Amino acid sequence: MTAPLLTPTGQSCTATAPGVPEHPASTGRAHGGGTRVLVVFASRHGATREIAAALARQLPMTDAAGQCALSVHLAPVQQHPDPAAFDAVVLGSPVYGRRWLTPAVRYAEATAGALGRRPTWLFSSGVADQAVDTSIDGDDGRRVGASIGSRDHRFFPGRLEGRLLSAVERRLLTGRPAPAGDHRDWAAVSAWAEEIASGLAAARTRTTRHEVA
Ligand SMILES: Cc1cc2nc3c(=O)[nH]c(=O)nc-3n(C[C@H](O)[C@H](O)[C@H](O)COP(=O)(O)O)c2cc1C
Repeated sequence: MTAPLLTPTGQSCTATAPGVPEHPASTGRAHGGGTRVLVVFASRHGATREIAAALARQLPMTDAAGQCALSVHLAPVQQHPDPAAFDAVVLGSPVYGRRWLTPAVRYAEATAGALGRRPTWLFSSGVADQAVDTSIDGDDGRRVGASIGSRDHRFFPGRLEGRLLSAVERRLLTGRPAPAGDHRDWAAVSAWAEEIASGLAAARTRTTRHEVA
């Protein structure tokens, strides 16, 4: 079963690789068989939510997904999904003032033990020009990554649209070279989903061989 993953309000939902029956574990019930991935995100204006939703939608459709019966659960950090109910986690936050959003930092800190015991991939989204300022990709992302030993920390270009911003945010950006527009790179997001799924399938193959030997 493949469920739609992008709900307008960012509510959690689940998807499974085509041809793979949805496993109860992917909806938080008992475990068996497949690789369950939690994609969990923070977002203020929806850009990062849509990146997380794209990852969650792509992961079960990747070439490697069928090899590890991959299923995905998408949820905002505010729902506090328990990483211990999953085999792997992808956690993302936008960068504001060079920091991750506080709910994402708090979630990472509260679940650090569980994140550190399973493969975890992190991503930040923002509009900074990394070529100009390499410190821009979110100190929190780097710090969280180091503390839990994450597999990767990616920076994805985000979206900055004046009509979505509060008056305070617009004031904060006054006089700063902030490139307005939607800079999200969906091809890069898809490619990362392929990388993550390949890593999970390879790990599963190694585990299966180990169990057989
Ligand atoms: C007040 C403000 C501060 C921002 N600070 C940064 C920053 O330090 N680094 C960065 O890369 N992007 C920064 N951004 C851009 C956001 O990270 C970007 O718009 C992101 O895609 C928003 O994601 P969201 O819609 O999920 O909240 C800032 C945007 C605003 C409005």
